[in-house]
Amino acid sequence: MRQLFSEYQEFIPDFDSFLESLRRPLPNHLRVNRLKTSPVSVIGMLQEKGISLTPVHISEDTVYEAPRALLPGKLPEYFLGYIHPQALTSCVASLVLAPRPNSSVLDLCAAPGGKTSHLAQLMDNTGIIVANELHSRRHAPLSHTLSRLGVLNAVQTAYQAQEFPLRHSFDFIMADVPCSGEGRWRLSRGPDTTEESRYRAGIAEAQKRMILRGFDLLKREGIMAYCTCTYNPAENESVVDCLLKHRDAEIVPLDNVPAVEPGIAQWEKEKFDERVQRAGRFYPHRVDSVGFFMARIRKRG
Ligand SMILES: C[S@@+](CC[C@H](N)C(=O)[O-])C[C@H]1O[C@@H](n2cnc3c(N)ncnc32)[C@H](O)[C@@H]1O
Repeated sequence: MRQLFSEYQEFIPDFDSFLESLRRPLPNHLRVNRLKTSPVSVIGMLQEKGISLTPVHISEDTVYEAPRALLPGKLPEYFLGYIHPQALTSCVASLVLAPRPNSSVLDLCAAPGGKTSHLAQLMDNTGIIVANELHSRRHAPLSHTLSRLGVLNAVQTAYQAQEFPLRHSFDFIMADVPCSGEGRWRLSRGPDTTEESRYRAGIAEAQKRMILRGFDLLKREGIMAYCTCTYNPAENESVVDCLLKHRDAEIVPLDNVPAVEPGIAQWEKEKFDERVQRAGRFYPHRVDSVGFFMARIRKRG
């Protein structure tokens, strides 16, 4: 792991603790699905089976840590749609976007639907979510997640995110784009295949097109969350910097989000717009979850 991440040593704080955290397995986080039940009843049901859940304190009382050995996907409560296994940082993304009930939302890259279903929960199943996913092999998992969790306000589309039609505009957009996935590399899990590095070569250009298209699809005063689960500045700050160069966008600070580190100021020979530092980086030695990057973007009125 040290070798894989050595190039990031200059900007990851307390680098040895970061490497140490990668030797531990990911914690077992799950979200209680308030569209179907309440945390109190799920905690009671699982307690009767000898399973205790520990609350994770983020702005909404919805994320819990389960014992490491538990396989939540095998529980009846999973099939009933009461719980959804989901990384803590993935839950924070929807909380940061904070869509209002009765608003219109576009989830540009939606499968397998963890964030779409959380957005529906935050909207109390009102308004509309367009859940877009390009790859047909990912459509069935997305539909299953939405139907199991009782999501009633979503429709599915299958466009290239970077070419999503400009016919409608949205109050809120989740741009949880495909990325190199470095934030998931923990314990013995490194990059899955050699394919991964080839994939990274063209990914930043695609991400830049996605953030620009997402921004163009926002209504005035609309909010977009741009997220990745990677540490790579070329897929994070550089993409947000590209947006700031080409559009009149505002980066809204991530207030009240604990243990988040600011975006970095420069990488290799590229010096970023200083507003990029208002984005947030999540490292596993600060927030024990998948490594993550998030920028909250506003279109001026
Ligand atoms: C990071 S994952 C999304 C995870 C999802 N938001 C969730 O929380 O469950 C990115 C998704 O984008 C899809 N994807 C890849 N390229 C795409 C494109 N050009 N347009 C739209 N979706 C794309 C991938 O198939 C993948 O399902």
